[in-house]
Amino acid sequence: MTPILPPFPTTRMRRLRRTAALRDLAQENRLSVKDLIWPIFVTDVAGADVEVPSMPGVSRRTLEGAVRAAEEAAGLGIPAICLFPYTDPSVKTEYCEEAWNPDNITNRVIRAIKARVPELAIMTDIALDPYNANGHDGLVKDGVILNDETVELLVKMAIAQAESGADILGPSDMMDGRILAMREALEAAGHGQVSILSYSAKFASTYYSPFRDAVGASNALKGDKKTYQMNPGNSDEALRLVARDLAEGADMVMIKPGQPYLDVCRRVKDAFGVPTYAYQVSGEYAMAMAAVQNGWMDHDKMMLESLLGFRRAGCDGILTYFAPAAARALANGA
Ligand code: PBG
Repeated sequence: MTPILPPFPTTRMRRLRRTAALRDLAQENRLSVKDLIWPIFVTDVAGADVEVPSMPGVSRRTLEGAVRAAEEAAGLGIPAICLFPYTDPSVKTEYCEEAWNPDNITNRVIRAIKARVPELAIMTDIALDPYNANGHDGLVKDGVILNDETVELLVKMAIAQAESGADILGPSDMMDGRILAMREALEAAGHGQVSILSYSAKFASTYYSPFRDAVGASNALKGDKKTYQMNPGNSDEALRLVARDLAEGADMVMIKPGQPYLDVCRRVKDAFGVPTYAYQVSGEYAMAMAAVQNGWMDHDKMMLESLLGFRRAGCDGILTYFAPAAARALANGA
């Protein structure tokens, strides 16, 4: 693959780095606004429009605020947003009924955005944690996360989101068998065109901590998620999970978190050649913003370099809280 180069001075690698024009011509990977998915937090309880302390610049939004964000995304050329709900603790139950309520905040926001900004793709999150009194992604019984019982509820959640008009469903729960169950249910319900972007390789990561503050799951969560999310030491397992999810009917796959797992992104892209995404998660954003706020790194340079890294690692797109800032920087010629 790598050509053997004639020796110096015939080969001078710096020739193509000499001017900006030559560097542009020789650039292998690029970041475009079309590669971005913007995650936003939605709520109808008090606390909307207040910054999440561990995520500078990120606020929970009301329904109207979410519609404004959708308009902003469309105006910037961002192709998709992804919705995450923050629910009042009083709505959280052991059985998570609110998850498949057609009038929960996510489903109302989907309908409102589709009415106003129909061209924007809407992605959702499928997992029980925002609605679970136990803070887990699955049903909990006697301290055990139940798999098959959870999948049945996730399917109900998926159908409610599809009925509301979601374009892309994002199962982030890591239960076994959920992709097949959702795909079959979607087809049977006449939603064969709704796509699934599976969180196939989702690691049990401490980088999710700021997100759990944002969706109010930190206080509810008892224990950790290691019986369903991946062991950070593994990468062969990620390939098995991706193969499994594709066989079950996933249209796209995701690796999450992003930057600490770029090796996994590259392996997945090379092995399968399918639409591959990474989630630059809340902790990655928090770390980056902390450095910026301390004056230790330049915001735009750091943001764009981190996002370009995902493209170099083989990702077709990136879920990132930087999406609108990156869109603006790219529009300004970055
Ligand atoms: C929950 C979910 C999580 C994230 C997306 N969906 C957190 C978790 O698994 O605890 C994390 C996103 C982020 O950290 O930005 N199903």
